[in-house]
Amino acid sequence: MAGQKIQAPKGVSEYMPPRSDVFEFVREALIDPARRAGYSLMELPVFEDTELFTRGVGASTDVVSKEMYTFTDRGDRSITLRPEGTAGVMRAVIEHGLDRGALPIKVWYSGAFFRAERPQAGRYRQFYQVGIEAIGLDDPAIDAEVIAIADAGFRAIGLTKFRLDLTSLGDSQSRAAHRVDLLKFIATLDLDEATAARASINPLRLFDDKREEMKNAMAKAPLLMDYLSDASRAHFEQVKKYLNVLGISYVLNPRMVRGLDYYTGTTFEFVHELLGAQSGIGGGGRYDGLMQELGGQELSGIGFGLGIDRAVLAAEAEGVISNELFVSDLLIIPLGELAKERALVIAAGLRADNKTVEIAFGDRALKGAMKAADKSGARYVVVLGDSEIASGHVELKEMNTGATASVRIDSLINEL
Ligand code: HAM
Repeated sequence: MAGQKIQAPKGVSEYMPPRSDVFEFVREALIDPARRAGYSLMELPVFEDTELFTRGVGASTDVVSKEMYTFTDRGDRSITLRPEGTAGVMRAVIEHGLDRGALPIKVWYSGAFFRAERPQAGRYRQFYQVGIEAIGLDDPAIDAEVIAIADAGFRAIGLTKFRLDLTSLGDSQSRAAHRVDLLKFIATLDLDEATAARASINPLRLFDDKREEMKNAMAKAPLLMDYLSDASRAHFEQVKKYLNVLGISYVLNPRMVRGLDYYTGTTFEFVHELLGAQSGIGGGGRYDGLMQELGGQELSGIGFGLGIDRAVLAAEAEGVISNELFVSDLLIIPLGELAKERALVIAAGLRADNKTVEIAFGDRALKGAMKAADKSGARYVVVLGDSEIASGHVELKEMNTGATASVRIDSLINEL
């Protein structure tokens, strides 16, 4: 109907200025350590063949069974908006034959992901992640490096009130041994139909059940950690050793199984203290059978996904990001036509020198322009009129202190 307002779909996260500056800062802080460790960007579609996720992420998971945005496209194909990034990376690696090139393949990605969850603080239907994947290397040192990259990202934001939960979900031999005893144990429980069905696909899922009665029932369940094969145990010991060397502390959490079915071996989650129910700010682990499951070679892999939205909430809760980071260096207020021309040129030069410069356009009177200067939050302000142009000097005003200094226009860059 004409004139009626349209609202965003329920549960999506959106960022408007000035908060979008914080979002961008957080995203860049999370990506930067990956770039510095030699990871390259992989840019992938946000929709994929549905089967990629049912096979890759696992039919017993909430993500696949309840939360996918799946639709039939005009060519009668079943399409799903990506609920996570790892399966898509594997699909692309296989499709483009990267697995036949130099190993490991190290990539990062960042973008929107979609899960039809019940919206609440920190849980959205469209949300944002920064992720990395390192494929084709079974060395425990890369497990520690991947964890260290996530840790460095969170610390670059300024976060300190978080912990790292760590476990090993073992190799197939470990899991097969554990599964026998776990199924025996589960058979003694009185499960409803849906839970029993989930358990029959992946009994580990029951460790992830948030219901109080299920948590109590699972308290005595056998733990995978006690069934690790010698190889898995040795790998995990090495990971812990490297984390100690890096000074990254962790809490062993043998009941952690994560929400996606592909994990094997080293598995981890970063949990923030101030975020309440949705406290997982990032997580990841090894997925040694995934590539093969999706029709590729038998290559191991490890990676993480960090929640940008939750990292923003965590930064706000800790109060660690100063608005000072996002203000412009200089606001130029031109008075008159000639000044406007000069302002355009001066600003272009300073921007080329990496300064953030705004011009107050709009032929306002000086008084109105000064009000705008106060509001803009710029660090410095100059007024540019005919006399300034004639003399080649401006009064550079520092907005915080009110202090002014006469500065040559062509040496503004040195003063900023
Ligand atoms: P995930 O644990 O499902 O892992 O998601 C990673 C992070 O994304 C979570 O820790 C959380 O911060 C954020 N997140 C997840 N769902 C939501 C939501 N509905 N709203 C807001 N934030 C959310 C993965 O997605 C794996 N692909 C990570 C990975 C990569 N494992 C290996 N490689």
